[in-house]
Amino acid sequence: MTTMKGSCLFSLLLAGLGVLGILEPTTTEDMHCHRAEHPIIAYKEIAPWLHVFKAKDAVDFSQLTFDPGQKELIAGARNYLFRLNLEDLSLIQAVEWQCDEATKRACYSKGKSKEECQNYIRVLLVGGKHLFTCGTNAFTPICTNRTLTNLTEIHDQISGMARCPYSPQHNSTALLTSSGELYAATAMDFPGRDPAIYRSLGALPPLRTAQYNSKWLNEPNFVSSYDIGNFTYFFFRENAVEHDCGKTVFSRAARVCKNDIGGKFVLEDTWTTFMKARLNCSRPGEIPFYYNELQSTFFLPELDLIYGIFTTNVNSIAASAVCVFNLSAITQAFNGPFKYQENSRSAWLPYPNPNPNFQCGTMDQGLYANL
Ligand SMILES: *[C@@H]1O[C@H](CO)[C@@H](O)[C@H](O)[C@H]1NC(C)=O
Ligand SMILES: *[C@@H]1O[C@H](CO)[C@@H](O)[C@H](O)[C@H]1NC(C)=O
Ligand SMILES: *[C@@H]1O[C@H](CO)[C@@H](O)[C@H](O)[C@H]1NC(C)=O
Ligand SMILES: *[C@@H]1O[C@H](CO)[C@@H](O)[C@H](O)[C@H]1NC(C)=O
Ligand SMILES: *[C@@H]1O[C@H](CO)[C@@H](O)[C@H](O)[C@H]1NC(C)=O
Ligand SMILES: *[C@@H]1O[C@H](CO)[C@@H](O)[C@H](O)[C@H]1NC(C)=O
Repeated sequence: MTTMKGSCLFSLLLAGLGVLGILEPTTTEDMHCHRAEHPIIAYKEIAPWLHVFKAKDAVDFSQLTFDPGQKELIAGARNYLFRLNLEDLSLIQAVEWQCDEATKRACYSKGKSKEECQNYIRVLLVGGKHLFTCGTNAFTPICTNRTLTNLTEIHDQISGMARCPYSPQHNSTALLTSSGELYAATAMDFPGRDPAIYRSLGALPPLRTAQYNSKWLNEPNFVSSYDIGNFTYFFFRENAVEHDCGKTVFSRAARVCKNDIGGKFVLEDTWTTFMKARLNCSRPGEIPFYYNELQSTFFLPELDLIYGIFTTNVNSIAASAVCVFNLSAITQAFNGPFKYQENSRSAWLPYPNPNPNFQCGTMDQGLYANL
């Protein structure tokens, strides 16, 4: 594994609304790799400091969150939710969350396997004194709102459609804002052909990315999401539309304004502030070596930095890297020039940013939507 730390920047930005833009890098710093070798520590050596939690029948642990009130860890596994002691991972509460037989039977009848027709927890979010959690529920996603101090106490059960994937294979991400809006980036349908960044719950109108429009999202694998300032950010990888020779995956940062209320008329359920940029994690050189596929991120709010783990494209030499992105640089990138494509056959040309000093809630949404 190659570890690199560098201020990586973007080369590409796509605005929604059919204006597809590419951003030139604003600044680029060399990446430094100070050490030739990196220490590797064997599991056995750290074992004395490890605590392990296991439960009979619980597999596919996939979600982990923190309850700051009780200082507990909450874990989501297939068909189970667990509350664990933060210090030693001792069990506080285990809650079974299975699909009912009728739902399973319907799932089998659609040709899905016994493994797939289970409840895989994919959303696990703490909001105040409640836990909002969703599971695939045998390809019939559902969400529940539970009391954090007693997870068997369910306040509310709603559809998980557009909040949680149908398939346990689909990668998704979601967050809850302090005002109660849920932002989810997931496949919205059973076959997984309709990916979206979707806002629901709360007081603001539900909004989504344009449907079946590859310039917005092109077979994305969503990785993470963050609520930062006036925006929600989404990190993912997707097939690159701007790459004309063969299929390539690029990584993206996308952003919407939290106060977006949608466009007018036919665009009333669509974001007007959606933008995305390419994350350039590469080793510089005459021919840069790209780590194109984002796998995981970590946000450090104190320094406004986003760390990402990237791998090379599957059909290239296997390698991985860590890149760090400065959020203020991301903001600058979104204020810079775009690239624009007249139609699907023409070249990408530089295009002035239609709104260079972009601020949420200041633009004429109808006008922008007509661009
Ligand atoms: C969960 O239920 C509580 C109490 O009814 C409510 O205040 C909260 O907004 C709900 N959360 C979500 C995400 O629906
Ligand atoms: C948790 O909630 C369930 C369902 O409301 C209830 O039956 C149970 O007694 C509660 N447990 C505790 C420890 O309060
Ligand atoms: C989801 O992400 C994992 C890890 O990167 C990957 O192996 C898997 O293929 C992805 N799922 C889909 C449906 O692409
Ligand atoms: C990505 O960054 C490298 C420097 O590490 C630069 O040489 C390259 O041109 C950038 N790629 C794009 C597509 O902007
Ligand atoms: C992030 O970028 C801003 C402006 O470009 C700069 O002032 C700041 O020092 C950078 N932060 C880090 C941690 O590099
Ligand atoms: C959020 O947006 C408002 C209105 O557009 C602006 O006044 C404020 O400075 C923005 N806050 C941040 C942190 O950018």
